Amino acid sequence: MYQFSSLLALCLVATLVAAGPCDIYASGGTPCVAAHSTTRALFSAYSGSLYQIKRGSDGATTNIGPLSAGGVANAAAQDSFCASTTCLITTIFDQSGRGNHLTQAPPGGAASGTDPNGFDNMAAADGAPVTLNGHKAYGVFISPGTGYRNDATNGIAVGDAAEGMYAVVDGTHYNGGCCFDYGNAETSADDTGNGHMEAIYFGLGTGFGTGAGSGPWILADLENGLYTGPNTAVNPPSNPTITSRFVTAVVKGEPGTWAIRGGNAASGALSTFYSGARPSGGYNPMHKEGAIILGIGGDNSNSAQGTFYEGVMTTGYPSDATENSVQANIVAAGYATTSLTSGPAISVGSAVSFRATTACCTTRYIAHTGATVNTQVVTSSDTSALKLSASWNVVTGLGNSACVSFESRDTPGSYIRHSGFELFVNANDGSKLFSEDATWCPQAGLNGQGNSIRSWSYPAHYFRHFNALLYAASNGGADTFDATALYVNDTTWVVSAAFA
Ligand SMILES: *[C@@H]1O[C@H](CO)[C@@H](O)[C@H](O)[C@H]1NC(C)=O
Repeated sequence: MYQFSSLLALCLVATLVAAGPCDIYASGGTPCVAAHSTTRALFSAYSGSLYQIKRGSDGATTNIGPLSAGGVANAAAQDSFCASTTCLITTIFDQSGRGNHLTQAPPGGAASGTDPNGFDNMAAADGAPVTLNGHKAYGVFISPGTGYRNDATNGIAVGDAAEGMYAVVDGTHYNGGCCFDYGNAETSADDTGNGHMEAIYFGLGTGFGTGAGSGPWILADLENGLYTGPNTAVNPPSNPTITSRFVTAVVKGEPGTWAIRGGNAASGALSTFYSGARPSGGYNPMHKEGAIILGIGGDNSNSAQGTFYEGVMTTGYPSDATENSVQANIVAAGYATTSLTSGPAISVGSAVSFRATTACCTTRYIAHTGATVNTQVVTSSDTSALKLSASWNVVTGLGNSACVSFESRDTPGSYIRHSGFELFVNANDGSKLFSEDATWCPQAGLNGQGNSIRSWSYPAHYFRHFNALLYAASNGGADTFDATALYVNDTTWVVSAAFA
């Protein structure tokens, strides 16, 4: 009898460990009607595709699935498919079986993207590496201008119908732009009025209320307002500034009632930041339309940034107990950080030069003339002024300590930063924007030599020389300096000791 119960207990433990977030929601009577993740399967039995990537070299696509049913994404398959080129995430598949896939967002009432058709950008496939219980996976790194959407969904709440949702995001990647959202939005990509959205928002937005302290916060984008409670809740202490690297954000709504919950996605439990009445002024009843957005506002406002790892939407209002079990499952998935760099080390404290590798230009080095960053031919017999202009101190990344910044040797306190995707040597103004624009994550060189220098804040963009000027160029993007011809050569640099 004793042996029998131990066996039973073991089986129960195995079943509990194996359940995915959507299995838990289903047991709670509020099944997932959309389930999106580039990092893992969200049903224990799911072994289909998680996401699709497209590579720059030949435009070919491939689907990335989990290593096993219910498991972590096969990041090695992505790495091998994208070797020596760039890749973008084209589709985040819906694991619920309802076909609610997320693809490149179309233009909307507030903003268009930079694609010829006005669509938003797609995320670099390797911008947000993490590990889950030691297995490498990639999140979706949303830079301003990037967004995903589905305007023709199946089973997502409309009108005042009940729904729940959660998202796991990077608590250190945010801004105040509108709007890093995941959830329910307008099917027209236009602002059709208060209550036409019900989405998780993460960032510094001050569209109506905020949380406590200086942010970032988990808020709800209900359209024409980022809410933290009813109209009277403007910065309630119950909605704290988020400080964890990985964040679980929860929003749910049913007739007359809604809630925001949150917690550390790598440890501990969820807290309830608000639960109660709807704001007045068009939010009760709600007018949900059932589209799904990621990284943008309902009207395609696309100036926000953030990183999404996984998220779901349910039908019905999940109980707190169900969400608490989902949180335990997320914690057990073991999200952790990993290196943001690859290739030959470019060490903090060293001083370096960057030599071009394109056949035209192998005697040219990254230098600057005033604020303009360019390439110049530099030899050992040149003046020390020219040598210094082509020499750079490697310092800890101003915007992310896992990457680096490059300080001009002849202009201390000034760093290589991108602005409008051109590179400049500018004085550090101490702003969040400057520090992020001046942060670079060196990678193994795209053409097989040295390093390629990737932007932290726009990981589809790398140092590129083009007509002897320096850009943060993407492979096949909207600008002339994004040309695909010679992209991998023009973005590859041999990094050596500084001239001076
Ligand atoms: C580009 O890089 C590849 C690999 O290093 C090299 O074989 C090729 O010659 C380069 N082409 C040009 C035009 O630089």
